[in-house]
Amino acid sequence: MPKIKKAKKSRVQLVKGMKDILADEQVYWSVIRDKVTEMAKNYGFSRIDTPVVEFTSLFKRTIGEETDVVSKEMYSFVTQGGDKLSLRPENTAGVVRSYIEHGMLNLPQPVKLFYIGPQFRHDKPQAGRYRQFWQFGFEAIGDEDPVVDAQMIVMSYSILKDLGLDVEVQINSVGDSECRPQYLKVLKQYYQGYKKELCADCTKRFTKNTLRLLDCKSKRCKELADEAPQLVDHLSSDCKNHFMAVLEYLDEMDIKYNLNPKIVRGLDYYTRTAWEIVESGEKGKLNALGGGGRYDELVALLGGRETPGVGFAMGIERVILSMQEAKTEIDKTKSCDVYVAQLGTEARKKTLKLFEELISKGFSVAENMSKKGLKDQLDAANKRGAKYTLILGQKEIADDTILLRDMESGVQEVINFKKIDRELTKRLEALQVKLAKVKK
Ligand code: HAM
Repeated sequence: MPKIKKAKKSRVQLVKGMKDILADEQVYWSVIRDKVTEMAKNYGFSRIDTPVVEFTSLFKRTIGEETDVVSKEMYSFVTQGGDKLSLRPENTAGVVRSYIEHGMLNLPQPVKLFYIGPQFRHDKPQAGRYRQFWQFGFEAIGDEDPVVDAQMIVMSYSILKDLGLDVEVQINSVGDSECRPQYLKVLKQYYQGYKKELCADCTKRFTKNTLRLLDCKSKRCKELADEAPQLVDHLSSDCKNHFMAVLEYLDEMDIKYNLNPKIVRGLDYYTRTAWEIVESGEKGKLNALGGGGRYDELVALLGGRETPGVGFAMGIERVILSMQEAKTEIDKTKSCDVYVAQLGTEARKKTLKLFEELISKGFSVAENMSKKGLKDQLDAANKRGAKYTLILGQKEIADDTILLRDMESGVQEVINFKKIDRELTKRLEALQVKLAKVKK
């Protein structure tokens, strides 16, 4: 290779708060994607992908101008054409915009949608908190029945359980635009006497976003929140009945939940049920893995017909961190059926073609054409968890045969080159039967 002059300029680095997802971690991502897709299929959700860029007004109207997400954390900019746009800080607003824009109101309700995609918040980066992070989320739009809330909660809980995490549900009801204003008056009255003791953030929140005083993490604010009047005691009878029904369903389904009056969520569009999924025990006091809630006023807020909705989203990086800490067993190697090894230039040419043919016939195959020695290739086959290795050398080319090595027993046999797929299928089927018997 020709020598390249070293560049004098400093190296360009990753933007603060962003994250490269390297090969080692990809296995967690594919396990999560597979799980989410499987759940979506089982529960009848269809995939939706909305753009990462939306009009800034979409988020101001839905999430709320006074929330931290909108007032402090959005990546907003004005385009050359003068449009005020933002990178999406979450996906619910975009999904609801799309629901209205594409007339999904006319489809059988509820319309059940799921997504997996990056979100952007200019937050203070730390473990489990990034400026570009990924969420998967589920939204059911068009049904106000508490059974839908319960089902969504169960889904959010089961996904994490299935991924090997010990989690619990923290749940509350945040009422609606009828009963919440009344409660906010009571809450303000309570905090009035302690105004001087609030942290700087809460002093600002006092007038504009009083509800958020309840989930402040600073010591004194936390103590004050512990003693504050609770929203559940000020719910209208409709909101209360709805909440009781959700809890009854959860009891019925044996879901571990904690009533937590401090779950108020950081986004303004929520009504009634609000929940977060946290790790059980001490770890649960750190960041939530996911959260969701009902948003019965959101569609109308964006100009659509009054339509209820409920949904949740999880932070994928946070879920992966927890899986790594919990040492969730993951099949890192993603085993394959057969590894194709070659010895010599002629054999390499022939195995290139064989490799493609085996893939097109549906076998899961691996190779590493840049390795030349047999030992290296057998090591690589073992690392990939191959069940069989096909070995092609000069002698086999001359005889029109190939060696088939059983990777568990090490036994090798010579087979006819033209009968490779028949021989492989026979052995893989026998292996399946053997495995099924062992599982029983
Ligand atoms: P959220 O609670 O703002 O809700 O975010 C959901 C999850 O996204 C969080 O629990 C967390 O795991 C993850 N997350 C949030 N910010 C960050 C960050 N800076 N870095 C890493 N992960 C983060 C929503 O976004 C709602 N749209 C959920 C929803 C869907 N509600 C109804 N439907």
